[in-house]
Amino acid sequence: MNVKKENISYWTKSSQFNQFPQLTQDLQTDVLIIGGGIASILAAYQLAKAGREVTVLEGRHLSQGTTAGTTAKITAQHHLLYQNFIKQRSEEEARLYYEAQTDGINVIRNLADEYNIDCDMETLSSIQVTIGESEKKIRKEYEAYQKLGINGDLHEKDMGLPFETTMGLEMYDQAQFHPLKFLAGMVEVCVDLGVTFFEETMVKKIDGNTVETESGQEVSFNQLICATHYPIVNIKHNLLFHLEIERSYIVAVKDHTPIPYAMFQVADIPERSLRHYITEDGLGLLVGGENHVTGAKDDVEVGYERLAYDAKALFNVDHIEDKWSAQDMMTADKMPLIGRYSKNDDRIFVITGFNKFGMATAGVGSLVLRDLLMGQSNKYEELLKPSRIDTLSSQIKATAKKAFSAIKGQTKAVKDYRTDRDALHTDEAGIFLTDGKFEAVYKDDEGTEHAVSPFCTHMGCVLSFNNGEKTWDCACHGSRFDCDGKVLHGPASTDLTQQ
Ligand SMILES: Cc1cc2nc3c(=O)[nH]c(=O)nc-3n(C[C@H](O)[C@H](O)[C@H](O)COP(=O)(O)OP(=O)(O)OC[C@H]3O[C@@H](n4cnc5c(N)ncnc54)[C@H](O)[C@@H]3O)c2cc1C
Ligand code: FES
Repeated sequence: MNVKKENISYWTKSSQFNQFPQLTQDLQTDVLIIGGGIASILAAYQLAKAGREVTVLEGRHLSQGTTAGTTAKITAQHHLLYQNFIKQRSEEEARLYYEAQTDGINVIRNLADEYNIDCDMETLSSIQVTIGESEKKIRKEYEAYQKLGINGDLHEKDMGLPFETTMGLEMYDQAQFHPLKFLAGMVEVCVDLGVTFFEETMVKKIDGNTVETESGQEVSFNQLICATHYPIVNIKHNLLFHLEIERSYIVAVKDHTPIPYAMFQVADIPERSLRHYITEDGLGLLVGGENHVTGAKDDVEVGYERLAYDAKALFNVDHIEDKWSAQDMMTADKMPLIGRYSKNDDRIFVITGFNKFGMATAGVGSLVLRDLLMGQSNKYEELLKPSRIDTLSSQIKATAKKAFSAIKGQTKAVKDYRTDRDALHTDEAGIFLTDGKFEAVYKDDEGTEHAVSPFCTHMGCVLSFNNGEKTWDCACHGSRFDCDGKVLHGPASTDLTQQ
């Protein structure tokens, strides 16, 4: 059998985490955190530091979910969002959001400092640039910066990148790092503070004050944080209908025309995210972009090809060192969902919906969650609370509803299936109807067929093949499975049945 494995990020390849055991017996804990990405580890730290007994259950391995695929800019510059936040919310809330993100940046920077974690942390500016097309939007965003008192400047000139730009909007005092070196260090700090970690321990459902794991253990808790990226769905909540999952791609190159000392985002279409990273033998460059709803694109490999083309054409590169992709939860109002899962329930909390800006957001989220679980108020609690979605404007709700109806339409209805299995080429996949049964089949490059059920084990949506990673992806809530049906990314917690 010769199946290409998922592309592995540079962060994963160049970091080392302590290993933790699988949970094999029932357990009782004060605070239980499900998930082991950046949101979980920072919350575990804050709560342990506040004197709480914390247990973390990770379904696979710590920080190998979306956090392993990030670009790792720690920034409050989230595209050109502040002008919209002022319009859709208010000046006061937009200002509060900037303050929250700035606190989040400082949480991460200060922790790396305090615990002396060697994680390539650099303080630098984040700059939105345009080749001319987005000048109007950038000027408007600068007006928003001025109203909100954001520490930034507008430069009406070429920004010194290897391709011509006409304008740049700079936000000062931002940061970037090696996310997994930082988190590996934070896991050690957490262990010293008494946090207990379990890996390969997938939680199947939450029932009252107990969770049940895939292999049948029960863990009871006083309070629980669901930091699973897509929230566990056996608890009904409106927020589940307001989350969309978007995948994007990154290519990493080593020898290239250097970029000025800052992180960049090209605001024009196609958007590109640029930053340097530190390697053993010099600086590398990350080029990210090509977003699409997970499972909703036919030829995923094209995303990598487009990024590679830009890297080669714009940065004088002839070799792509690494490439990977990841997905993040998007919310209808572009703000994260952090707080009580249900309005008046002080037992279960959630942190998700980072809209591709999960680093600083996880930083501030850890403070919000610590305060809420400790029975204290937090100045960002109202702004970020999940129950705000009940009072969103009708326009935002309509957008979310449309996305949800599109998703509902994919459940159980296989629209494009084939019957001619002999016509399947090597390194090709399709959904086949054989003897009245649907099968998702991938034929690897040695001609071996891998046949699994085409229905996602989460809520039954039909899967689509990702030819870039050789996985079956679900457009509904972003679950992903390898071609033999093993879950690679939740919310699904059960493998696909092999056919
Ligand atoms: C391509 C890309 C680039 C990005 N770039 C940036 C950037 O430059 N700056 C920035 O701030 N943000 C960026 N982001 C966003 C950021 O990376 C994410 O928001 C963040 O990493 C999400 O962290 P998390 O802890 O919520 O999720 P994850 O890292 O996915 O962690 C969730 C964990 O929960 C586990 N889990 C799931 N279900 C269960 C279960 N039932 N039981 C037990 N465990 C479970 C998973 O295995 C996983 O390890 C980017 C995102 C993408 C996709
Ligand atoms: S049905 Fe929810 S992830 Fe597939």
